[in-house]
Amino acid sequence: MTNLYDKAYEQSINDPNAFWGNIAESCHWYKKWDKVLDDSNKPFYRWFIGGEMNTCYNALDLHIDNGIGDNTALIYDSPVTNTKKKYSFFELRDEVAKFAGVLASRNVKKGDRVIIYMPMIAEAAIAMLACARLGAVHSVVFGGFAANELATRLNDAKPKVIVSASCGIEIKKVIAYKPLLDKAIELAEVKPESCIIFQRPQEQASMIEGRDFDWEQMMASATPHDCVPVKATDPLYILYTSGTTGDPKGVVRDNGGHLVALKWSMKAVYNMEQGDVYWAASDIGWVVGHSYIVYAPLFQGCTTILFEGKPVGTPDAGVFWRIISEHKVKALFTAPTAFRAIKRDDPKAELMKDYDISCFKTLFLAGERLDPDTLFWAEKNIGVPVIDHWWQTETGWAIAANCMGLHHFQVKPGSPTKAAPGWNIHVVDAETKPVKAGEIGAIVIKLPLPPGALPTLWQNDERYIEAYLKEFPGYYKTADAGYIDEEGYVYVMTRTDDIINVAGHRLSTGAMEEVLANHPDVAECAVMGVENQLKGQIPLGFLVLNAGVTRDHNEIVKETIQMVRDKIGPVAAFKTATVVKRLPKTRSGKILRGTMQKIAEKKDYKVPATIDDSSILGEITDALGKIGYGEKA
Ligand code: COA
Ligand code: AMP
Repeated sequence: MTNLYDKAYEQSINDPNAFWGNIAESCHWYKKWDKVLDDSNKPFYRWFIGGEMNTCYNALDLHIDNGIGDNTALIYDSPVTNTKKKYSFFELRDEVAKFAGVLASRNVKKGDRVIIYMPMIAEAAIAMLACARLGAVHSVVFGGFAANELATRLNDAKPKVIVSASCGIEIKKVIAYKPLLDKAIELAEVKPESCIIFQRPQEQASMIEGRDFDWEQMMASATPHDCVPVKATDPLYILYTSGTTGDPKGVVRDNGGHLVALKWSMKAVYNMEQGDVYWAASDIGWVVGHSYIVYAPLFQGCTTILFEGKPVGTPDAGVFWRIISEHKVKALFTAPTAFRAIKRDDPKAELMKDYDISCFKTLFLAGERLDPDTLFWAEKNIGVPVIDHWWQTETGWAIAANCMGLHHFQVKPGSPTKAAPGWNIHVVDAETKPVKAGEIGAIVIKLPLPPGALPTLWQNDERYIEAYLKEFPGYYKTADAGYIDEEGYVYVMTRTDDIINVAGHRLSTGAMEEVLANHPDVAECAVMGVENQLKGQIPLGFLVLNAGVTRDHNEIVKETIQMVRDKIGPVAAFKTATVVKRLPKTRSGKILRGTMQKIAEKKDYKVPATIDDSSILGEITDALGKIGYGEKA
């Protein structure tokens, strides 16, 4: 028997032109596309070529034209500043049009890049939508990154303007953003023409005459700007994500495919209709924030919630229930780590009893593997379906999901269910041969990727091919390993590269090693992700010092921790490292990171046959024991 999911999936793979072409009819186009899928330049595929549209128009103006301008578009809820503010589609459109005017007055035109380095305030979403309105390309940089990371992105994106705020608020800490911004501009080879700074009452940023402009002052005299039609294939944004080196990858998202896929996903994946309230508790600095705080809910005419707070500590583990109940949230999307934090602080979900959450229908989790404990806890205490789904910055939306608007499949713990329509998922071996159901291999996606997925990396087609398309010809490499069972359920087990997942944040251990290697006393180092009850994984560093270094090891460790904080940022959560005499290696010199990780996680391990000197493992175990990790095998 077929259901809506089976029908959609089959057509999306066998006749993508008809499938996506039909869906695209529900969007607003200034000029209809000439072709749905252009495959004339393989392995580069483009969607909706010849089409012209505007992302901001589809998010805001279209709803006003359709008569729902008074509906609430965005609710800013900030327990850290005790502020709540609602914007109707009219109000949000007016603010966005004015800010587009501000950007235009600073010389921003179609195709120009704008970096947005902001905390979770409504102005961040306004800035993103204003760029889209002008056809400018935004690149949002997460606030938890250090100046150096921001500088790298400045050099790559070459923005004309940077939009920032005086500070972010992390529970009770006020984090001044402007000194980080000034430092990044100082470090970068490419300087912006202007910066527009939103001054928050908690911290006054000092301004540089002629370069820095005050958000409020600029808005007071701005001329609203209309939507600028762009090609469907023009870039909407660049979002940098950790790669296997210190250089982040600039994931490009185009306008047309993104609009079509995301709007459709709101109903198909999340079962959300126009007028429903949707909440993605993430950060606009991550892909989840781009797709599901800002764009998709607005495309669908839903109310979106922009939450400036944490699952715990703002003020307590009841804040999610408060927001669900107060704003009538129908679906929440967050990372499992947020629920692990709530479960840790309020194991019996006592705080939920203070709120009526009968409006709440589904909890969606993604960003890291959903551990069965957290799944069962959420199912038992909330009493609604808890849906795991799997995706990546590159894909922009779910690769595998229990598509709640199509068909609700039985949940299997540990699996994000089945491939979402458009995603032709396979599990293969090193020779790109399919493995049997249930066997672990590399998870790859047969090309073409559906609309909304990255068409390339920013001005770097070569790296796009090298990183994603070369290893498995004809397929996109997800860099996740896992298996598909007999019923088509996908299981995502682990990364195949050096990426680790810390509290749902994607980080490269290679990038951390690059920082540690720069410490003058460090001869060699290794960083790996080890299991952590709250954050899923946390980084752990091993340092081998130069011969003759007699300084206190604790001091050196402290310095390296500070270096990672300064170079990558506090979000890396690099807080633990230990000094060892040597690192275990194979005879060909490869560091045995997997074995060290197993020791740190107190798991059974086999001494690898290729190990150069197995006595080192004892030294590693002792060193880990001294910092509270590991035990002898
Ligand atoms: N600006 C500046 N600093 C930031 C920041 C921001 N936007 N976001 C995080 N940081 C800092 C934090 O203050 C913290 O610094 P510290 O080492 O000085 O304490 C560090 O970066 C790590 O932050 P975080 O990962 O948030 O850890 P935490 O221990 O403060 O909180 C959780 C743990 C689980 C509550 C938190 O990670 C969380 O809410 N996660 C939700 C999941 C999520 O949003 N995932 C995104 C993808 S869906
Ligand atoms: P990011 O690009 O930050 O969204 O991180 C993407 C990576 O997070 C994926 O490649 C996976 O390794 C991991 N991930 C995301 N969602 C899931 C999930 N539902 N289950 C398992 N891993 C996930």
